[in-house]
Amino acid sequence: MKDQITIQDGQVLISEVPVKTLAQKCGTPLYIYDQPALEHRMEEFVSSFKSSQFDTTVIFASKAFSCLAIDRLCTKYGLGLDVVSGGELFTARKAGFDMNQVYFHGNNKSLQELNMALEYGVKTIIVDNLMEARLLASLSSKAERPVHALLRINPGIDAHTHKYIQTAYIDSKFGISILRKEEIHQLITTLEAAPNVVFDGFHAHIGSQIFEENAFMAEISKVCAFAREFEDEYGIKTRTLDFGGGFGVRYTDADAPIPIEEICKKIIAKTEEERKALNLSFSHVCIEPGRSIVAEAGYQLYTIGFLKETQNKKYVFIDGGMTDNIRPALYQADYDFDVATQMDKEKSEVVTVAGKCCESGDILGEGIALQPCSTGDLLLVHSTGAYGYSMANNYNKLPFAGVVFVDHGKIRWAIMPQSFEELIGRECLELEEV
Ligand code: LLP
Repeated sequence: MKDQITIQDGQVLISEVPVKTLAQKCGTPLYIYDQPALEHRMEEFVSSFKSSQFDTTVIFASKAFSCLAIDRLCTKYGLGLDVVSGGELFTARKAGFDMNQVYFHGNNKSLQELNMALEYGVKTIIVDNLMEARLLASLSSKAERPVHALLRINPGIDAHTHKYIQTAYIDSKFGISILRKEEIHQLITTLEAAPNVVFDGFHAHIGSQIFEENAFMAEISKVCAFAREFEDEYGIKTRTLDFGGGFGVRYTDADAPIPIEEICKKIIAKTEEERKALNLSFSHVCIEPGRSIVAEAGYQLYTIGFLKETQNKKYVFIDGGMTDNIRPALYQADYDFDVATQMDKEKSEVVTVAGKCCESGDILGEGIALQPCSTGDLLLVHSTGAYGYSMANNYNKLPFAGVVFVDHGKIRWAIMPQSFEELIGRECLELEEV
């Protein structure tokens, strides 16, 4: 983020490391995390999301950025971990994550993934649908210890965001709508009848990159009201409520996110208020931030290659693109850019930053203001720490870029760049007999 960096002799420094040093030592394209900034966010979430009336857990949604190093940092700050696949779960285990703090999500967990979770001793599974509940009930009979379950409900909140990242509209593929009470009852009965499953309560997640506090407040009201109704009608008590993630971050000056401490405190206050008003007895409340922990602590660094002018545009080409950050192509996401080696100049140019992929949509920034630059300069993109590396791909056989954590002058690899050998490592020159 802009106010986290420092500038010296026209060059950007991230946690005291000059970008030229990063490019020389690690190459580009490169993902960079400002480690103190990252840790600060973790600490801020955990210390702000506290209540005197119930236990609280801040669960990092690892889909935003999953790797061993970040899972380790989560442990250090006492965060839980949301995983959505065997791969994220495997990463958590390799990082030594306490399985009591792992929350396994997903609308279509495979048999293999559910078995893996039970074998690893994952404490909480967020059940998405009735078929999953039946499968879990039958698998858990072989489990060594009880598995806890939350049911993902869809409270139907419209959190004004990009349509692809809205998850709570009525026909969403995630969870079960609170309008389908009978089905929910049947599901919980199925779980409760299983010898080794403990039904803990409800989970909801209303979308991503949300700036409106009211959307979260409405979610809390609806979920609490639903828990009350459910207890009244069926006598089923709720121990845990998990309100999901979705807290907005600042990509550009057009974004005005609610500060972390403020939104945490408001969620707690609203939940305490509803708990009291509705006489609910839940004793554990969770949130699941992903983006808001990692986005603003992350940057991407590219080397500027060729420059080209067309009738109407000035192109700046970079040595990466939609392979390392697909968000502009997929969601028309905007970012803030700087020529990190020309910071003493004004942003006097209007350019289009394009990647090197064979795809017209491989544009990272269209018509953006930028400092004048030439080949060999370094381009820095701000707030790229969420859903950048985790959505990276190998289109055009571009290898995955590496990830470094920088910390007061120190540079350390979190993920090494992929080599060409690794890129084709799984390929068979002679077709292999199956
Ligand atoms: N919990 C659940 C159940 C989720 O589905 C998600 C995100 C989160 C937590 C974390 O949400 P966050 O705090 O990061 O907004 N690829 C898209 C974002 C997809 C989000 C999917 N679910 C993007 O790049 O914008």
